[in-house]
Amino acid sequence: MDTVKTTLVIGLGLIGGSLALALKKAGLGGHIIGCDRDQDEVELAISIGMIDQGSVRAEDWIEQADLIVISVPVIAMESVMAQIRPLLRPDTIVTDVGSSKGSVLASAEKVWGSLPDNFVLGHPIAGSEKSGVAAALVDLYQRHKVIVTPAENNPQAAVRCVTQMWQACGAEVLSMDIPHHDEVLAATSHLPHLLAFSLVDTLARQDESLEIFRYAAGGFRDFTRIAASDPVMWRDIFTANQRAVLKALTEFEQGLAILRTAVEQSDSDAMLGIFTRAKSAREHFSRILENSAYIPMQNKLIHYRAAPGGALSGRLRVPGDKSISHRSIMLGSLAEGTTHIKGFLEGEDSLATLQAFRDMGVVIEGPHQGEVTVHGVGLHGLKKPAGPLYLGNSGTSMRLLAGLMAGQSFDVELTGDASLTKRPMERVAKPLREMGAVVETAEGGRPPMLIRGGQQLKGIDYVMPMASAQVKSCVLLAGLYAQGETQTTEPAPTRDHTERMLTGFGYSVARNGASASLQGGGKLVASDIDVPSDISSAAFFMVAGSIAPDSEIVIEHVGLNPTRVGVINILKLMGADITLENEAEVGGEPVADIRVRSAQLKGIDIPEDQVPLAIDEFPVLFVAAACAEGVTRLRGAEELRVKESDRIQVMADGLLALGVDCTVVEDGIDIVGGVIGSGSVHSRDDHRIAMSFAVASLRSEGEIFIEDCANVATSFPGFVELANGAGFNLSVEDESL
Ligand code: S3P
Repeated sequence: MDTVKTTLVIGLGLIGGSLALALKKAGLGGHIIGCDRDQDEVELAISIGMIDQGSVRAEDWIEQADLIVISVPVIAMESVMAQIRPLLRPDTIVTDVGSSKGSVLASAEKVWGSLPDNFVLGHPIAGSEKSGVAAALVDLYQRHKVIVTPAENNPQAAVRCVTQMWQACGAEVLSMDIPHHDEVLAATSHLPHLLAFSLVDTLARQDESLEIFRYAAGGFRDFTRIAASDPVMWRDIFTANQRAVLKALTEFEQGLAILRTAVEQSDSDAMLGIFTRAKSAREHFSRILENSAYIPMQNKLIHYRAAPGGALSGRLRVPGDKSISHRSIMLGSLAEGTTHIKGFLEGEDSLATLQAFRDMGVVIEGPHQGEVTVHGVGLHGLKKPAGPLYLGNSGTSMRLLAGLMAGQSFDVELTGDASLTKRPMERVAKPLREMGAVVETAEGGRPPMLIRGGQQLKGIDYVMPMASAQVKSCVLLAGLYAQGETQTTEPAPTRDHTERMLTGFGYSVARNGASASLQGGGKLVASDIDVPSDISSAAFFMVAGSIAPDSEIVIEHVGLNPTRVGVINILKLMGADITLENEAEVGGEPVADIRVRSAQLKGIDIPEDQVPLAIDEFPVLFVAAACAEGVTRLRGAEELRVKESDRIQVMADGLLALGVDCTVVEDGIDIVGGVIGSGSVHSRDDHRIAMSFAVASLRSEGEIFIEDCANVATSFPGFVELANGAGFNLSVEDESL
């Protein structure tokens, strides 16, 4: 782009005019010349400083232009190309803005025989119903997408020049091939315009006086805004992109026919299915636009500034259990009948599981304030998803789904975010292969996972090499689809929510010491689920209430499954003042309120048998250790190195940065209790690290700055508000794009 001394924009409509304005503002493109069929438009463009020079005759300027942008309607492209061909210098770079690329390529081939090397096709995805120089906007392309469709013969320098031109206007430039571009645009732009034009015309014809529009409220206005667009331009687009538009229209007609039948037959399930799927897809799309949900979390940059807090007090309720929430969606979807869930965790991880089952055709209503209704499809009722299942940050989703997917009739690809993509999946791929599944992983046994459908699985007796509830659950869930008996034996007790919930859904699971087994080929019967609060989230407040002086809090309705209570056992061994109240049982899981009062903790050797029972709580237990008198020693915890981050190393880095003395060993850490200073720490993509250092601030000498905390939303939405309500002093800095 630096070598461009003269730019010629042919066609000063909204698109060409806005480009000229943006280039002028960016100080790029050198001398800007504009041509348009309409003399008045050219004069207006010069008078407002949009272009330096111009006229109605493009041919007068071709030879001096280093860069030519053809921004005329697609139908007029061919005649403009014919005009420039005899005068075009071979080194001049040419691009266009046409919204259907196949037809522009065909025009160029007609005029030149084949696409000239320096002609790079492009398409800015921007516009409005208005047209002409007066409608041009200097920021029309800001944060909009521009698609370039480079040809094989385009030199890199030419593609780079066109890319830089659009980037200078503030656009994000994407590259794709021509047929793909035309299909994507037909579906996302051309079809909606076609429908809007048709709906308005149909209604208008029914009511010649147009009286009907007086009563048309927001829905009509929103749906038909684009029917006010330029008719000639749209006639040209539908002519130019005829094939792809007709393909999209056929697919739409098929979808509409299904909905029509559902309405005709008052088929409530079918209607609800279509509407809930569409609603969630639309919400997903809005979040992408707003950069605010679990997929765009990659773009979210949030930091916590944690000032030393005061005493904690009050009663609080932390969100629903993550492990149980995942399983409630999975088993609810595969059950026969309808499952009502209460207390569902609306965190990114469990929402990823929910979305995955929606993607496989399950109708799921909600979540709304923790309530979800799952219309089960039976063990064999899932449908092939349209694309890969994206599981965000969630290892549980990926490992448990791997087991379920191994038994389906279709192929599935499981993908996730950067942190999940680093985590080991071979631990589930190996036993699944032994069962007859076909599972491919990326290098080093990492995601994405490709699971081939249509395999007959057979039961195995799997002796697990590591204490992992996810591996156990994966194998047992695959066992639902296997011939014969599937058995798992674990080296140490791990959480047993899968076994409990299967039993609750009427599926018999035999348990004998460290072993659990089931017979394949049964069925699940829908059952309502009351999800207790997550002990892993409560753990932050158990440590907080213990270390903050003069504190007393009650954490309500916490799940106390015996395979999860390691954190309470360990804190009590350290001298914590923790008591249980209102003990009860809901849906096969024990629950209680937990009262915590401040106490002087002391360092201990953490018993190894408690490690799997507190596996997710160690980051915050390390903070407790930093506040204890003496040394706390942890061993036998190598699994911590393959969680959302390497939790031994990342916690040690943060503690050392805050002046806490600690020594890392392969399978654990020694932490010397003392004073927590102040400073900056990094969560390394791990929600529990972020929250643990927030807890540390209750006893720190000064402020702790915690980098990258958006991940807290994976397991604990509303953490900051709840913590501050109890007496923390956290503020959030948002640096999102
Ligand atoms: C989980 C099991 C544990 C735990 C994870 C949730 C589950 O992982 O760390 O947060 O829901 O089954 P492992 O199975 O890897 O120990």
